Amino acid sequence: MHFSICTLFPEFFDSPLAVGLLGRAVEEGVLSVERVNPRDFTEDNHRTVDDRPYGGGPGMVMLLDPMLKALGHVEQRGGRGRTILLTPRGRPLDQNLARELAGEERLTVICGRYEGMDARLGDLVEIEEISVGDFVLSGGESAACCLLESVGRLLPGFMGHEESGDEESFALGLLEYPHYTRPEVVHDEKGRELRVPEVLLSGDHKRIAAYRRELALATTWERRPELLATAPLTQQDVESLQERRAHSPKPARGRNLYLVLAHHPVLNKEGEEVAVSLTNLDIHDIGRVSRCYGLGGFFITTPLEDQRRLAATLLEHWTGGAGSVANPDRAEALSGVGVVASIPEALDAIRDRAGRDPLVYATSARIALERRRGGKRKKTAMPESVTIPQVGEALDDRPVALLMGTGSGLAPGVVRAVDAVVRPLRPFADYNHLSVRSATSILVDRILGDTE
Ligand SMILES: C[S@@+](CC[C@H](N)C(=O)[O-])C[C@H]1O[C@@H](n2cnc3c(N)ncnc32)[C@H](O)[C@@H]1O
Repeated sequence: MHFSICTLFPEFFDSPLAVGLLGRAVEEGVLSVERVNPRDFTEDNHRTVDDRPYGGGPGMVMLLDPMLKALGHVEQRGGRGRTILLTPRGRPLDQNLARELAGEERLTVICGRYEGMDARLGDLVEIEEISVGDFVLSGGESAACCLLESVGRLLPGFMGHEESGDEESFALGLLEYPHYTRPEVVHDEKGRELRVPEVLLSGDHKRIAAYRRELALATTWERRPELLATAPLTQQDVESLQERRAHSPKPARGRNLYLVLAHHPVLNKEGEEVAVSLTNLDIHDIGRVSRCYGLGGFFITTPLEDQRRLAATLLEHWTGGAGSVANPDRAEALSGVGVVASIPEALDAIRDRAGRDPLVYATSARIALERRRGGKRKKTAMPESVTIPQVGEALDDRPVALLMGTGSGLAPGVVRAVDAVVRPLRPFADYNHLSVRSATSILVDRILGDTE
């Protein structure tokens, strides 16, 4: 494979290309690397490669002309192949992309400097923009090293043992299991023994493989649970993760989340504050969501006594009556539902259960005024807005009561009194009027996902 690196600092690569596996791969011709300096294609006395940005602002911008000439030079010497501009604005580099690029014969990599390239480069030359992470480097050279090494090591002949790439982190969609080497026992500063896990000394390859798989799953669960959404999993893997979740010492965040379905004070279509009647489906569906996600509780509030009686009769049917016999599963979901007269009463019940006052977050289909990060809050009657991931973070430390409004939504007086309003679902769409049970399900899933 041939790499052409367009860089203002060709010498940056002297050491990476000379040492370790990359050095050996270059020496053995597994890959070849050519460095091209756009400065060599300038025609003025100062060999200028940058200029001030149009529209003002700090820093300088890389000129098109020297880079286009450098790319033309690469084209003439055997072709550019896929041409990559390294930029924080690009597609994130991951193992799948590295694998895809390793299938190419030629790659050209453009390293930016200063504030980056004149944006019209992409209109003049077919380029792909790639980022090595959500942080800003001073130049694309160290990003190019990451790309070169992650792609290079997937080429046949790069690593001593061809199979070593297949077991590494991400190769199977998971983080890798931990490694150990000699000595078999080390001691910490208190003299306690730290032994290599016994199974690794057993010589039983089947057991070792099973142990490693389990640790790869466990590590991924702990550190990067989002990878599990796309990792291929066997039935045994799923069982192992169920077991892990059941015995996890880490308290599940869901336990701190409480749902309050308010039927008063809510708005009707005319914008008047009213109490609306219960909806059977809400009780069933939200009760089941609450059980599935392991929530701390689900409270229904209505000031209307006959409605509370109705709810009690309904819940009794499913949790203790004929319904519970016909459908014990439903009994389990609905046994955690509480019925109270008002939102304050629900919050009292949550405090009693959680041992602490909950943060109270209202939900609304309308977007609340948001405070700009670091900016001063405007004098407004509205509480601040929180994003859905922020609700998840709040659950690490505190119980949170999520107020869901029936009818046409919670009355303004309720919204003004809460700690924050959660950013609505589908805030950028032209229609976001979900039923309260759909909105609750989606919110809970976005807050907790599959691994909480
Ligand atoms: C100081 S940075 C420019 C940052 C740019 N003004 C921005 O905010 O997106 C200079 C150069 O470093 C490289 N670079 C910086 N961070 C990078 C990253 N995370 N991934 C890939 N390249 C990066 C790019 O080539 C970029 O043009």
